[in-house]
Amino acid sequence: MREHGVLRRILIVYSETAPRLLSDPGSVDVQALAEAASLFRAFGEDYHERQLEERFLFPELKRSGGEAGGLIDTLLAQHQRGREITDYILATVQGGSVASGEAERLAGALQSMNRMYEAHAAFEDTIVFPAWKETVPSKRLEELAEKFEEIEHEQFGEDGFDEAVRRVRSVEQRLKIGDLGDFTAPATGGNTVI
Ligand SMILES: [Fe+2]
Ligand SMILES: [Fe+2]
Repeated sequence: MREHGVLRRILIVYSETAPRLLSDPGSVDVQALAEAASLFRAFGEDYHERQLEERFLFPELKRSGGEAGGLIDTLLAQHQRGREITDYILATVQGGSVASGEAERLAGALQSMNRMYEAHAAFEDTIVFPAWKETVPSKRLEELAEKFEEIEHEQFGEDGFDEAVRRVRSVEQRLKIGDLGDFTAPATGGNTVI
């Protein structure tokens, strides 16, 4: 489930863009934001969620019950809410600029999407995916891994993941957030309380 890495990079785009929309909306490359939301739709919502999680993982886990099974309804509701937010982002930025008075609402949508999906992906990584690997026999897991590759190739061609990484990198560069070093936290100055 390496898709989460790409989706997390889009969430970083959202969380870095939101304060800029509030302080100086004219400085935001809205086309880059539109590209980020389009990638989230194609790679996250239409492929990762709909084709993999909702089709293969969730039904099986819901039947198995347990902690992971108990999360499925919430995860599905969050997929749906995410799609609504992506619809809103795409509709808001489609003209190539953000209408005056809309910047604050857009910033709020980006922040709430980031908050929801960070938790969503973290719970999937630590509870849902491990439970699925335990539930499904290893031979079936191997078959499904091949099936997932096939689906990826059908949807995106031979190098769907690589292409998604290229697209998110291009968005990051346009928004000037492509340098990992810029995310290094400042020193605490020795006043950290643990
Ligand atoms: Fe999900
Ligand atoms: Fe996921």
